Amino acid sequence: MAFPEGFLQELKMRNSLTEVAAPYVNLKRRGRNMVGLCPFHGEKTPSFNIYTESESFYCFGCGAGGDVISFIMRIENLDYIDAVKYLAQRAGMEMPENSYDDSMSKLRKRIFEANREAARFYYKSLYLPVGREGLDYLHGRALTDRTIRHFGLGFADDDWTSLTTHLKSLGFSEHELVAANLAVQRRSGNGVYDRFTNRVMFPIIDLRGNVIAFGGRIMTDQKPKYLNTSDTPVFKKSENLFSLNNAKNAGSRTLMLCEGYMDVIAVNQAGFQNAVATLGTALTTEQAMLIKRYADEVIICYDADEAGQKATARAIPILRNAGLLVRVLTIPNGKDPDEFIRSQGADGPAAFKAVIEKSGNDVEYRLQKLRAEHNLETTDGRVTYLEAAARVIASVHSPIEQDVYTSKLCKEFGVDKNSFKAQVAKLNKRMSREEYRRQQQKIRNDLSGRADKVDKDKAKALRSTTAEEALTAYLIKNPDAEKAISREVSPEQFQNPLMRRFFEYFTARIRDGKDPLNNISADFSSEESNKIFQIIHKHSGVAQTKQSLEEYIKVIREESAKLKPADIGGMSGDDLNAYLEKVRNTKK
Ligand code: UTP
Ligand code: MN
Repeated sequence: MAFPEGFLQELKMRNSLTEVAAPYVNLKRRGRNMVGLCPFHGEKTPSFNIYTESESFYCFGCGAGGDVISFIMRIENLDYIDAVKYLAQRAGMEMPENSYDDSMSKLRKRIFEANREAARFYYKSLYLPVGREGLDYLHGRALTDRTIRHFGLGFADDDWTSLTTHLKSLGFSEHELVAANLAVQRRSGNGVYDRFTNRVMFPIIDLRGNVIAFGGRIMTDQKPKYLNTSDTPVFKKSENLFSLNNAKNAGSRTLMLCEGYMDVIAVNQAGFQNAVATLGTALTTEQAMLIKRYADEVIICYDADEAGQKATARAIPILRNAGLLVRVLTIPNGKDPDEFIRSQGADGPAAFKAVIEKSGNDVEYRLQKLRAEHNLETTDGRVTYLEAAARVIASVHSPIEQDVYTSKLCKEFGVDKNSFKAQVAKLNKRMSREEYRRQQQKIRNDLSGRADKVDKDKAKALRSTTAEEALTAYLIKNPDAEKAISREVSPEQFQNPLMRRFFEYFTARIRDGKDPLNNISADFSSEESNKIFQIIHKHSGVAQTKQSLEEYIKVIREESAKLKPADIGGMSGDDLNAYLEKVRNTKK
């Protein structure tokens, strides 16, 4: 079941993409369209476009494309129905009754409810005899009852069924509990058991206050130390951050990025609310983009050990590319923030504040690291250090920033500033040559279809697919040409399965008198939607004339008339003769 077309049309009319996107993207007018820095990937030059005429967006950098519904689905992490509800509410429209299948939306709601009840249950257990061990553990880690309540920490006992029994008594089905990853199906197929046992529990809460997942820590040094909720319909660990719900209200445009739950909580208890952590994986671009919505600057507060330093090196470019300023905290003598704060006793908060204030930016941090790797006592060591330092400085975008570090280094090492600058300029030149080469390669790959992840068949029938794409773009732009086009080509003549599916879909909608694009976000996956808008916008700049239309059709027909080797193998003598005759005739 789908929403009535009229409802969707009105929804889109009352939610102009430019207005809906404005809080998330800084948009500038360019002709009839709007451009800005893409909210879906990190970039420094704007390639995110809103086409006001078609009320659609397309990013030339990452290939994201769609309408206002797909925009909200992606940016607010909602499914289709919830995105429509969100926009309806925004425009003050009523949702049509019983016209749509909202089973996924209902399941998500049930998962939120089950998670909330689970968090309550875990929290209560902490203060019952059964949870004594958990409470002692948390107190042993210097957490106060106030902190425990603030984060809603809890305890999962080792009974294997206590949570499931409790939630079932509240009316949750086994199916819902398994979908929430609060319970696991027994291997025998008979019933379920608790996913988390004998652990202290950390609820993960999203920006709307929903409990979306849990992390659980074992209280001994058994492994795994932390167990996290697997991805569910409401949770993707690569796209969420622990404690962002607290941090976004901290009233600061600086966020502290920690490695784990305990660091965030300890930092909070020391008086800094603006800490977040990834959930057991390396930082992703999605998480950096999420941070960018609430902050301008990030202080990386990873562990001082080797793993933490490696993770820091990986996180710096991801954060920078998302447009964030970066600082790096150096914690004295091999500790994480939690251990450091605790080791200072009552002075913990003040000592941590001092460490924050001392934290340098990412360039200073990288130069500092290099310094430790070189022997500056020898001439060779100084030369290789300065060469490596020049590479770091060359990677900085602002010329002023480059100059500041150049001056500092040259003064310290007694090097002529002009020769150091020449070295940086040489590196910059090489980098832009490499960048140019990468772009050329990307264009070649795009044209050949080799790198097309959604359309894996494109490279196999490149000539035909290219014409099929162009024809589909023409059709969407000129729905009144549908009859004429359908007289000349049929979907069966398409070589590319994805394009055939698109073509069938759009011709059918147009024949039904519907706007071809009105229901895209419901009928296709987000990758397929990207593909559709890529095709449309690839052809939006070029004039598609009647003549080019004839050319597309000719190519599609020619290519479909060619037989595949497999077909020829199974042909009778008569068929083969007939085929050769046909080929001879088309050649004339
Ligand atoms: P750490 O082991 O550094 O966490 O892992 P921590 O917070 O300092 O642990 P404590 O202080 O010993 O309690 C960092 C993060 O990596 C994830 C968790 O999110 C953890 O907070 N992790 C770690 C897992 O998901 N599973 C593991 O087994 C270990
Ligand atoms: Mn720790």
